[in-house]
Amino acid sequence: MTTWQTYLDEQQNRFTEELLDFLKIPSISSLAENLPDVERAGQWVADRLKGAGLENVEVMPTGGHPVVYGDWLNAPGKPTLLIYGHFDTQPVDPLELWDSPPFSPVIKDNKVFARGATDDKGNMLVPILAVEALLKTEGELPVNVKFIFEGQEEIGSPQLPDFIAKHKDKLSCDLVLSADGGQWEEDQPALWVGLKGICALQVDVKGADTDLHSGGYGGAVQNPVHALVHILDSMRSTEGKILVEGFYSAVRDLSDDDREQIAAVPFDLEDYKARINVPDVFGEEGYSTLERSWARPTLEINGIWGGFQGEGVKTVLPNEAHAKITCRLVADQDPKEIVELIKAHVHKHVLPGVTVSVTQEESGSKPYLMPADHPGNKAAEKVLEQLYRTAPYYVRTGGSIPFCSIVLDTLGVYTVNFAFGLRDEKAHAPNEFYRLSSFTKGQKGYAMLFEALGKMSPEALAST
Ligand code: BES
Ligand code: MN
Ligand code: MN
Repeated sequence: MTTWQTYLDEQQNRFTEELLDFLKIPSISSLAENLPDVERAGQWVADRLKGAGLENVEVMPTGGHPVVYGDWLNAPGKPTLLIYGHFDTQPVDPLELWDSPPFSPVIKDNKVFARGATDDKGNMLVPILAVEALLKTEGELPVNVKFIFEGQEEIGSPQLPDFIAKHKDKLSCDLVLSADGGQWEEDQPALWVGLKGICALQVDVKGADTDLHSGGYGGAVQNPVHALVHILDSMRSTEGKILVEGFYSAVRDLSDDDREQIAAVPFDLEDYKARINVPDVFGEEGYSTLERSWARPTLEINGIWGGFQGEGVKTVLPNEAHAKITCRLVADQDPKEIVELIKAHVHKHVLPGVTVSVTQEESGSKPYLMPADHPGNKAAEKVLEQLYRTAPYYVRTGGSIPFCSIVLDTLGVYTVNFAFGLRDEKAHAPNEFYRLSSFTKGQKGYAMLFEALGKMSPEALAST
């Protein structure tokens, strides 16, 4: 009988071809014109699940981009895993910085270059292929699995909370595995135990009905760009401390254990600076760079516009100014509360002579934090140790996956991050890629993890 290992070895070429196929679909979730492509990617995933031997496969409506579901529930008494990923991608701009077109995948140096290669199409295909290998060779799985793939992660999963609540019973499980995320280095595994939450806002400042002559009105009428700069400047100290009243009140302080866990991850400041080519780091006093980036909340201006930006001089007093802001949140901050605090702060800092409005993006996401010693992590740790011949780091990230906190709140189940992207794979940037070595290694890792989890009782796994 062929073993699943042999099956995986034999099928790699076909699997790679399939990944290339998947990557050709421009499933950008933020652009209306790509809506049919997101649907098409969902259908592609549904077909692939069927091909792998999954049952009850369906593309499910959400009111927005769809969710794809499929399961295999024929291992009575064994744990039930809910496996997550997303088939939507970020936009591709700036297009001119790509070495090859983003949706015409090419393989170079054993890496696949395309938008969505690492985030998250390559990663999300991995557990499907592991399930296929087990089903095609052994005819069964050591665990029950439910797959859930969404097409709206990159826009903050706006319909996902309602969807999960509505399908609570269908999605019930003992453990969630996320195939979105990654490892530390090619030869160094990691388990992500914390993700940040997020909220997003736009500030619009309006003055007169049209631009004014700055000689005619300057000094006598408020300048909206100045008024906006004043508001923005009031939000953050030069050291990076957020000055919005109440911003830190819900923040859970770092315990000694937390700090030890973070300090255990090797960090080389010079290397960190060199990788992104900055002259220095900055941030809140009393915290290390990793603590700032993993465990402290942030407020960042993502964009600011208004007024004259052309060649030469234009003596104008602009009539409006705008800024986009996002905050990355940590336990136990609530995105809705933070939005209210920021609104109140902005309205307190409005200079006379302009009107200011703040609008929030509907979808925010709560922060996610799990106990490092969760039984699911311990099982994943053993597998990673066998796979990489070294123990994983326990790490956090400033990034967000709304799904993790939604399932924790709705189903009461923790998500173990088991994915194989790497930090240098240019997620969201031009020339995004995924290593084919990770693609293969991940499939093996998932099959090993299924076997390990199949030896545990559902109760032992679900215990928190
Ligand atoms: N896969 C990322 C999140 C991530 C980043 C996980 C780094 C682990 C390490 C995800 O696709 C993502 O980009 N999320 C967005 C969410 C936002 C649009 C609500 C993010 O973090 O910006
Ligand atoms: Mn992702
Ligand atoms: Mn992403």
